[in-house]
Amino acid sequence: MKRVELGKTGIEVSRLGIGTGTGLPSGHCAQALMDKKELARLLLYALDRGINLWDTAFQYNTYPHIKEALRQVSRKDVVLTTKFSAANEKETIRDFNITLKDLNTDYIDVCLLHGVRTDTELQMRSGAFNAMVKLKKEGKVRAVGLSSHGLGALKSILEMPEIDLVWARVNYSGLNMDTGCLGMYDQMASVYWLKKCYKLLPEGVKSLIRPKANTQPIPEDAHKEVTDTLKHIYSQSKGIVGMKVLAEGMLREDAEKAIKYVNSLPFVDSFIIGMLNKKEIDENCSIVNTGILSKERNMSMLNPHNA
Ligand SMILES: NC(=O)c1ccc[n+]([C@@H]2O[C@H](COP(=O)([O-])OP(=O)(O)OC[C@H]3O[C@@H](n4cnc5c(N)ncnc54)[C@H](OP(=O)(O)O)[C@@H]3O)[C@@H](O)[C@H]2O)c1
Repeated sequence: MKRVELGKTGIEVSRLGIGTGTGLPSGHCAQALMDKKELARLLLYALDRGINLWDTAFQYNTYPHIKEALRQVSRKDVVLTTKFSAANEKETIRDFNITLKDLNTDYIDVCLLHGVRTDTELQMRSGAFNAMVKLKKEGKVRAVGLSSHGLGALKSILEMPEIDLVWARVNYSGLNMDTGCLGMYDQMASVYWLKKCYKLLPEGVKSLIRPKANTQPIPEDAHKEVTDTLKHIYSQSKGIVGMKVLAEGMLREDAEKAIKYVNSLPFVDSFIIGMLNKKEIDENCSIVNTGILSKERNMSMLNPHNA
């Protein structure tokens, strides 16, 4: 499996990474429901095939599984990425320390703000981001960034030199990708009381203020806006990792087309897919390994104004 550098971080990852946070309709994480040893075996199987990028988050409940897998390998052979949803600096440091303990490691390769939707939300969570920058200075983290869940957040990255990399939702269909058209809940997700009260609201009100974003693909011009923004981010030498390549499984019938599409994007360093069995790992490795890869950074070609 081809290795690439994530932006200018010096972190070398496989072109294909493995996700451990695939959501089920029930709201549970598919990998968290797996037996600890079973997911550990799957992660080790992926590593054997060259997949060294393992993605998790404080919220996925897959730390026990990853700890079990890490126990059986040399720590430096794996690039571990995790994400935090804590609102401020103090809580982020607390969750980071729990993470180190739960994974039985003394550093994390990549720390991300989890699922940021808007510019305002990014500003409201600046304390949490500062915590990650501090941890990087202390040598406990190698690179920092965010996972984007909205076009506003994605665009803000262009104004933030401290951000090393981004996890961005990208696939050929436009399903499950970032948009600027968010429901009231997602626009106001940084408002503490709304988050707290959300669970108590009747279902009808919930679906009104938080319509399901993934049932419709974003329009073609919005898709272009996302990819142009990603080209621009990439031209700033930041790393880009694609996610939702199969739109949470909605593109499973077109898996080959979906993987070939992302594999062909010159501004995507690497991409993670939630793979739940060995067959998916084998299939996806084979598609990625046979793809034509032109990963040389060519800034003039990637300038969105020349695109
Ligand atoms: N905010 C964030 O930062 C965020 C949020 C969510 C997830 N993530 C990360 O991104 C990762 C990827 O997202 P995801 O898992 O939600 O979605 P995804 O990678 O787009 O889709 C995963 C689904 O694709 C299917 N699949 C994989 N390989 C296949 C193949 N060869 N043929 C047919 N189907 C195949 C599997 O479906 P089956 O069920 O049929 O096996 C799996 O459930 C997550 O695991 C997580 O690590 C990040």
